[in-house]
Amino acid sequence: MAQRPYIVGNWKMHGTRAMLAEARAIDRAAERLIKVEVALAPPATLIHATRKEATLIGVGAQDCHPADGGAHTGDISAAMLKDAGAGFTIVGHSERRADHGESDADVKAKAEAVLASGMNVIVCVGETEEQRDAGKAESVVAKQLKASLPTGEGVAEKVTVAYEPVWAIGTGRTPTVDDIGAMHRSIRKVVQGIYGDEDGAGVRILYGGSVKPDNAAELLAADEVGGALVGGASLTAESFLGIIVAAAEAGED
Ligand code: PGA
Repeated sequence: MAQRPYIVGNWKMHGTRAMLAEARAIDRAAERLIKVEVALAPPATLIHATRKEATLIGVGAQDCHPADGGAHTGDISAAMLKDAGAGFTIVGHSERRADHGESDADVKAKAEAVLASGMNVIVCVGETEEQRDAGKAESVVAKQLKASLPTGEGVAEKVTVAYEPVWAIGTGRTPTVDDIGAMHRSIRKVVQGIYGDEDGAGVRILYGGSVKPDNAAELLAADEVGGALVGGASLTAESFLGIIVAAAEAGED
């Protein structure tokens, strides 16, 4: 892994203030594991408190509305998330795409709003099992990338891509290391096509989907994998730290 591995925990719709103790424990441990860049995306209700509890790790949001403000009951703008303490926002997670019918165009508009607010963005892409079985995984992901990634001067350095096969999220199933490597090489080509060879080479590509302490070292060693987006295993400091330690060891190669 050429760059410092980036390990991001996505708490999804989990967590009340009682879970801040986990964030604190993760933050303390991150102090010793400086070879890894660690971040947490708690639910929006905990961003401010997490930012106050955790001083070293990154803190981000899981979604935002694309507009600056207005009559959008229940929604939260990128500027509000930043004001609450978020330094990045995840957009286009497959659960948002499925549960809220978000299209690639919606995801791109959200990504642009995130960048306009001054935060970094993690853009998620990934194929369904049906698409993989039909041999279309790489073409589906390429299409998502081309239509979801924000473009423009200086944008590449603020963008991280997360490849999350939908069928691997929360299922305990993962692609083979070879399949992850092939997909990440394909993503790298598309990203370089969008941002140019040099800028595109610097974009981090995370793998997500059933990353656990016991498979993290293997998955992180796949070609072009710059880190992981972790759901279930980020909910306790104990399991998330297992992944961070594996990443620290992988980063030493
Ligand atoms: P999982 O979720 O680690 O629980 O599979 C990953 C994600 O959805 O980001």
